[in-house]
Amino acid sequence: MRSLIRILLVARGLWPYYTAIVVTSLAVVGTNLMTPFIVKGAIDVVVEAVRGQPAGVSTVVWLAVALLATDLANTVLTNVGGYLGDVMAVKLRATLAGSYFTKLLSLPQRYFDDELTGTVINRLTRSITEITNFVNVFANTFFQMFLTLAAVLVVTVWYSWPIAVLLAVVYPLFVWLTTITSARWQALEAEKNLDLDVAGGRFAEVIGQIRVVKSFVQERRELTAFQDRYRRTIRTTRRQSRFWHAMDVARRGVLNLIFFGVFVVIFTQTARGAFTVGVMVLLVQLVTMARQPVFSMSFVVDASQRAVAGSRDYFAVMAEPGEWEELPPARPAGPAAAGGPQGIDFTTVCFGYEGGENVLCDVTFSIEPGERVAVVGESGGGKTTLVSLLLGLYAPDSGTIRIGGTDLGELSLEEVRSRVGVVFQDPALFSGTIRENIAYAAPDASPEAVTEAARSANAHAFIERFPAGYESQIGERGIKLSGGQKQRIAVARAILKDAPVLVLDEATSSLDSKAERLVQQGLERLMAGRTTIVIAHRLSTISSVDRIVTLRNGRVDEIGTPDELAATGGIYAELLALQASATKKDRKRLHRYDILA
Ligand SMILES: Nc1ncnc2c1ncn2[C@@H]1O[C@H](COP(=O)(O)OP(=O)(O)OP(=O)(O)O)[C@@H](O)[C@H]1O
Ligand SMILES: [Mg+2]
Repeated sequence: MRSLIRILLVARGLWPYYTAIVVTSLAVVGTNLMTPFIVKGAIDVVVEAVRGQPAGVSTVVWLAVALLATDLANTVLTNVGGYLGDVMAVKLRATLAGSYFTKLLSLPQRYFDDELTGTVINRLTRSITEITNFVNVFANTFFQMFLTLAAVLVVTVWYSWPIAVLLAVVYPLFVWLTTITSARWQALEAEKNLDLDVAGGRFAEVIGQIRVVKSFVQERRELTAFQDRYRRTIRTTRRQSRFWHAMDVARRGVLNLIFFGVFVVIFTQTARGAFTVGVMVLLVQLVTMARQPVFSMSFVVDASQRAVAGSRDYFAVMAEPGEWEELPPARPAGPAAAGGPQGIDFTTVCFGYEGGENVLCDVTFSIEPGERVAVVGESGGGKTTLVSLLLGLYAPDSGTIRIGGTDLGELSLEEVRSRVGVVFQDPALFSGTIRENIAYAAPDASPEAVTEAARSANAHAFIERFPAGYESQIGERGIKLSGGQKQRIAVARAILKDAPVLVLDEATSSLDSKAERLVQQGLERLMAGRTTIVIAHRLSTISSVDRIVTLRNGRVDEIGTPDELAATGGIYAELLALQASATKKDRKRLHRYDILA
């Protein structure tokens, strides 16, 4: 019940619907209750007639007409209620899905490191479907049942308090019997949902990377793992359902006994002459009205159980602390921060991923506005992590990072991220057209601006060769493009963002030397007048920078110009020496630094 109230509160904007549904439900209950009274009236008239009183045929006909009128009213009202319930449910669904997505979009990167995409999606779909289903069922049936019972109780008290007492016991008893079975049911449901979510997560991952699965011929293994999860849900469901239905037999058995008592009272009292036949029929009808809901209540309770389980998952995600309270407005096209390039300072920064050891420790270096700095270090040495920290994707455990002299902690994340343009190590494009991808940071960018960015990234020529040009669909994550093409689109995307700080995380790694030179020219243009951090695989790229920062064991090892570092005998000097030497063994050592000579 608490969960239900919570759900209704989330969508409090739907109050006109709630109100309308309550009103129609009341009207439906009213028409429902009129029927037994009309029938009672008719029976009393007919019984009189049978006893020899002058029959009021016209009265009976009028009563039949009244019956027709209430039936028609009931039919119309029920359907109006059904319509309102449907609309409310779909609006509720939209609200819940919207807030879930809003929440996910605001969660920190950390959250996504531990979750499979498919799992997140699966959970969303199930939670929302079950919550919405329940609310729909609740609005369309349960609510009316509840009101009917209340009304029936009031009427029966008038005729016979023992019957009213027995009826009054029924619902609380039923709910109590349900709740004592609920905990076990919920535990099994959670187990089942976990299996479904894990299977769903893997499913999405496999489909998303089907090439890998195919090339390693692992279809069967993936299928088996998937089916195993589903088989487990069958086992869990068997246990869950057996338990549930066994308890339902007990529950209903108890209710059957109570209704037995009710009917015994009605029949014996009538036989003793305490009730007229009309009253007996009235009471029998009322009790039947009260009885029906109880027995269909199993169904409602079932739906509500699922909704509770679903809402638990839902509210667990909603309770995660987000990066921001409210999503930032979509950024308009054009330069993020006017006023030229900005410097970057890392001061005694330490950072480790959750549950892992420190990746970066005591990292201190400064980059002047407009300077071009390369970061060199072993693979897995923390270069990409450095970029993530700069983007505010993770917060450093200690130390400070400044952009343009301002501590990241004092800037909004939106501001931090709008100041930095990144070309990621993995180009990560979206399905859609090339134009949409290049203009991702600035959807309103003019066609000229998009073309200009593509030219700068040396992407224009290959884009033009596609039959659909800039409007070519590139498939999920850009699967229809080659690695180098993807990379150039990613560069163009960063160019169009036009941020004062530029980070190139191995931006040219998937390109051959000729293409690299072409992109390099584009990058040169891009780097002019911007503070740039280059994480490069190629010495050719590194040698043209102003300064180099080398990382060793998570710490800054050396900082200096390429010429200075060439003489110190550190990592960079080692790289140069290795490049100069052509032996196989040395080339192998070069790979340690991911450097392609
Ligand atoms: N999201 C993450 N969660 C936990 N650990 C991570 C995460 N990302 C990276 N790591 C770990 O942090 C360390 C540094 O990774 P990082 O990606 O920064 O290396 P890198 O220097 O960019 O390497 P490369 O040159 O291969 O790209 C690695 O040991 C890696 O296993
Ligand atoms: Mg990296």
